[in-house]
Amino acid sequence: MDKPKVVLGVSGGIAAYKACELLRRLTESGHDVRVVPTASALNFVGAATWSALSGHPVSTEVWSDVHEVPHVRIGQHADLVVVAPATADMLAKAAHGLADDLLTNTLLTARCPVVFAPAMHTEMWEHPATQENVATLRRRGAVVIEPAVGRLTGADTGKGRLPDPDQIFELCRRVLARGGAARPDLAGRHVVVSAGGTREPLDPVRYLGNRSSGKQGYALARTAAARGARVTLIEANTGLPDPAGVDVVHVGTAVQLREAVLKAAADADAVVMAAAVADFRPAAYAAGKIKKKDGQEPAPVALVRNPDILAEISAERARPDQVVVGFAAETDDVLANGREKLRRKGCDLLVVNEVGERKTFGAEENEAVVLAADGAETPVPYGPKETLADTVWDLVAPRLAAPADGDSDKTG
Ligand code: CTP
Repeated sequence: MDKPKVVLGVSGGIAAYKACELLRRLTESGHDVRVVPTASALNFVGAATWSALSGHPVSTEVWSDVHEVPHVRIGQHADLVVVAPATADMLAKAAHGLADDLLTNTLLTARCPVVFAPAMHTEMWEHPATQENVATLRRRGAVVIEPAVGRLTGADTGKGRLPDPDQIFELCRRVLARGGAARPDLAGRHVVVSAGGTREPLDPVRYLGNRSSGKQGYALARTAAARGARVTLIEANTGLPDPAGVDVVHVGTAVQLREAVLKAAADADAVVMAAAVADFRPAAYAAGKIKKKDGQEPAPVALVRNPDILAEISAERARPDQVVVGFAAETDDVLANGREKLRRKGCDLLVVNEVGERKTFGAEENEAVVLAADGAETPVPYGPKETLADTVWDLVAPRLAAPADGDSDKTG
């Protein structure tokens, strides 16, 4: 079988050096990679490095090797185009269809999925011009991953870092694995995923918690990003590294989780509540550590109910067409209990896990049945959490309302 053909576009930012690592990962895993740098990218990493690592000649201009018409051919033949780093200037050019060098020409001729991994200073990323360009690209079907937060060039820190090359590589693999669709099915959508388990503090050192690892929620976030969605991941106490290309909000308690979910859900197309939310919290929080007292029994811990976030967002949808998904862990009468819970919570889909042997918290694999409010049942056999995550998105995607702007048949 032919190797998948990847075009690695590199625009002129300091993070260009990280694209060398991405290139290595792609070539070492059997991809045929053409690097198309912009002229300014070559100020950061030279053509010799790109051609040595890719095994292909490198040019930036459309008039080199004119007899081969590379500006048309490279884009037409690609299975995936990934631009990393994508500068503010590159995003602007791509959004407006400019074509003044080989990379921008390639973007216009490509009919395969296109991934942009932006990297720039926080102010440039947050500028309305950049945000509108990103929204335009996403609406057309490009996968624009969120920059990471951290140290930027010099002493600055903030949002704008190029995500870890390994993570961009994994995302590219997922996009390629989904086949050649130029417009991924969640392109232009905003999805919110909660993950992990809440902790309800008793005093400064103790809490009531649960054993949710957050892995299923992270798999949902990663797979949604690879399917083109803008993803907000609200995580509670997982300790997992932020997935590439996803906006991550860190929370601790159920009350904080509720606030973050409601805020993010305001403009979301879909909300998936994979977090294990504590149903109760201690009625009182002791500002000082609760000490044991000789000869005295410990005071009982009074609990109060936490808000039911899933029921609340299902009942009061920020948009009438928002799709809401819940999770349930059941031990007995799994389907009957799941159906009853689906009705009680009022969500569209409920992923029911049977809790038992092999199916423990923290496992890498999972088995479930996805129940739908319309009566459909989709069994998901024991397998990787990403498979279950993709099945959830397969069921969410057709339930989403048609995009308001009618852009759905355009390519990125
Ligand atoms: N959930 C929530 N808010 C809560 C509790 C749960 O949003 N306070 C969400 C979880 O994120 C998950 C689903 O509801 O999507 C799981 O519900 P579960 O805790 O199993 O349901 P309960 O109604 O608490 O039922 P049970 O009596 O089985 O505990």
